[in-house]
Amino acid sequence: MATAIVTLNKTPKQENLIIEPPVTGLSLQGTLQIPGDKSISHRALMLGAIAQGETIIEGLLLGEDPRSTAECFRAMGAEISPLNSQKVIVKGIGLGKLQEPLDILNAGNSGTTIRLMLGLLASHPGRFFCVTGDDSLRSRPMSRVIKPLEQMGAKIWGRNQNSLAPLAIQGQSLKPIHYHSPIASAQVKSCILLAGLMSEGETTVTEPALSRDHSERMLQGFGATIIIDPTTNSVTISGGHVLTGQKVIVPGDISSAAFWLVAASIVPGSELLIDNVGINPTRTGILEALAMMGADITLENERIVTGEPVADLRVKYSKLKACTLEGALIPRLIDEIPILAVAAVFAQGTTIIKDAAELRVKESDRLAVMATELNRMGAKITELPDGLEITGGTPLNGATVDSYTDHRIAMSLAIAALNAKGATQIERAEAAAVSYPQFITTLQKIMNYEL
Ligand code: S3P
Repeated sequence: MATAIVTLNKTPKQENLIIEPPVTGLSLQGTLQIPGDKSISHRALMLGAIAQGETIIEGLLLGEDPRSTAECFRAMGAEISPLNSQKVIVKGIGLGKLQEPLDILNAGNSGTTIRLMLGLLASHPGRFFCVTGDDSLRSRPMSRVIKPLEQMGAKIWGRNQNSLAPLAIQGQSLKPIHYHSPIASAQVKSCILLAGLMSEGETTVTEPALSRDHSERMLQGFGATIIIDPTTNSVTISGGHVLTGQKVIVPGDISSAAFWLVAASIVPGSELLIDNVGINPTRTGILEALAMMGADITLENERIVTGEPVADLRVKYSKLKACTLEGALIPRLIDEIPILAVAAVFAQGTTIIKDAAELRVKESDRLAVMATELNRMGAKITELPDGLEITGGTPLNGATVDSYTDHRIAMSLAIAALNAKGATQIERAEAAAVSYPQFITTLQKIMNYEL
């Protein structure tokens, strides 16, 4: 048996996480804080950068993705204090004032950074920008934002017939459009809204199902004119409105809380209180899915913090049962599907996840990767073109699995390992730092066991 049940094996190239739970007696206990919401952190940095005056951000996610956003906007003239304290100050440069960067902008691993930023870059007339990202980001589709931006008059060039980064952008005066997006994507919606902010007139985005609405909320908070039509899932922005710096308090990320919600639900005897979790209704699909599965989760101390609903979540172990996840629920839990797949592996019955083909173009092909890696541990998962069929209830055995450098895969596999027999080695687990740098220390803190 290992001397510790969680160990990190570091090589110069990668970090492998080894988890070997005790044969009996492990439970998860305690109260924990989770890192700031990634989506809100990106938006606070970006809106702060293009606003007039100072934006004070409290609770910013100090992960790699927001660091990429901060670096890009610093390179275009915004003053952003170092991301080493949870209070970050952004001195905005004003609408339409992003400077031409001296070098290529690097969005790292972050789809939100590159796609939202493109709306701003494309709408800065007379300025030229190049933007790229890591191996994963350079393989992710950019045409979903380039096509609507081109309809507005944008000039963008990229690999693979203008669909992949690196991208070159020659800023233009854009014209407003009404865009009917074929996918429910907050990145697409937000990109067009930001471009619309810089166009004269009204720009509308209609989506097939409602995606996260943090941009709409925060743009309103910064003084933009936004009209929302919930009957058609449409949002309209009026161009030219100057934004004013604000104080933003970033709630904890429900997508990070999701790992502990599932961990406590599957490890017998567990009880966790997760403080300060954002419960924006466009993000709470995970709570509805786990409720369908019979999880024991209660919301305490519900409140509104700088325009976003927040609560403390209490979760206790309970026996889970299978469910079907589909339709309009999917965009509301899109990032939680890997960890929900882990919950389904331990639930009685067959869980079906469908309408989730978007998962194939995330940081990795999350449908393929979760099916392959959990099956290595003995799970019974069949990949569907747009989802997964998971027959739960078969015990898992430890195995060597890979994160594919995808943060949410690394953490989901770590939670599965807590309930497997023997040791699991998760390769390239350092990916967790993209959204959750303290994941392993938090895991160690809440584990209760006697060796
Ligand atoms: C995000 C939107 C979602 C989500 C991503 C963050 C955002 O992507 O998966 O992690 O901050 O707008 P899509 O808009 O591509 O669905």
